[in-house]
Amino acid sequence: MNRNYLNKINKAFDNAITNPGSILLSNDEQDFWDILEDVSFSAKLLIEIGTARGISTVLLTEVAEEIWTFDLQDYPIKKDIWNYFKISHKIYSYIIKDYLELATIISQVDFDAAFIDGNHNYDWIVCDTFLLERCGYILFHDYHLESVPRAIDRLIKRKGGEVFVKGKYAFWTNK
Ligand SMILES: C[S@@+](CC[C@H](N)C(=O)[O-])C[C@H]1O[C@@H](n2cnc3c(N)ncnc32)[C@H](O)[C@@H]1O
Repeated sequence: MNRNYLNKINKAFDNAITNPGSILLSNDEQDFWDILEDVSFSAKLLIEIGTARGISTVLLTEVAEEIWTFDLQDYPIKKDIWNYFKISHKIYSYIIKDYLELATIISQVDFDAAFIDGNHNYDWIVCDTFLLERCGYILFHDYHLESVPRAIDRLIKRKGGEVFVKGKYAFWTNK
């Protein structure tokens, strides 16, 4: 797979990807597709933690029928980007006020995969994995940070499973 979404977004949205605060770099996109292809990833309902400008959400709509995406902050450009790709009908975007609100919503929903790209502090990743591990399939961004592999090690100690790594992405499953 090679969708090249990030270049399209940059062209249409005045270099939204390379603006300060953006996270997904264009040269990371192929790793994203490669890891999902390697593990034959697909989902009916995927939970995303860390929406930001909604760029990873765009990519995830290729592999998930529906996405519920959560963030503490609202970046209005995400709606323009999702409309541009005509995918808004697949996405439910929540601006949460705290972890309790996130936990309350997630505890009431059946989902079959997750993407964690919110707060990259170790304790936060561990808390996010507590909420999401029951689905058995979690993609993590920023595996190059010390906190992410450490949180995945802890997840494996608790729940078993294995991890596949490609660039900055890691995919954990215990199915
Ligand atoms: C690295 S950015 C996400 C980028 C996005 N996934 C993408 O690739 O386009 C991290 C986002 O997580 C949000 N965030 C930070 N802590 C969070 C938390 N505890 N729960 C949910 N979102 C959080 C931040 O506001 C920020 O927008």
